[in-house]
Amino acid sequence: MRFQQSTIVKILFLGFSCALFSLALQAGPAPAPDGGDLFKKKCSMCHGADGKGYSALKTPDFTDPKYHASITDKEIADTIKNGKKGTPMPAFADKLSEDEINSLVAYIRSLDSSKKK
Ligand code: HEC
Repeated sequence: MRFQQSTIVKILFLGFSCALFSLALQAGPAPAPDGGDLFKKKCSMCHGADGKGYSALKTPDFTDPKYHASITDKEIADTIKNGKKGTPMPAFADKLSEDEINSLVAYIRSLDSSKKK
């Protein structure tokens, strides 16, 4: 009887530790921002859900390898931060963190049709 009880206690303890461990995992560092998700929420209304842009808005085609060859990561990040004067492209410096902007640059790069996904 005593043996059985201590075994049960051990099993309960084990279960409890597992629960604590998974809680600790969930409370870990914030996940990296998801560029694709941000793009959908903040950019796709002008740049298209697929990033191909709209000719009526003159938004560039982010799937075109020629576009990617014409621009640096820094230029993309600067445009997102500061917008483009004289065009509808808004500035996001006060709306997005540096991490979020970098994740958007990476996402835009990933749309390049010459890159394998
Ligand atoms: C209100 C519409 C609008 C929204 C919202 C918008 N853009 Fe733009 N964006 C534009 C337009 C229009 C252009 C083209 C500007 C031009 O004529 O050079 C542009 C251009 C760009 C360029 C190209 C800059 C260059 O020099 O070639 C990038 C990169 C870009 N946008 C990223 C984004 C990202 C990332 C978001 C979301 C965080 C976003 N845009 C949201 C309208 C928008």
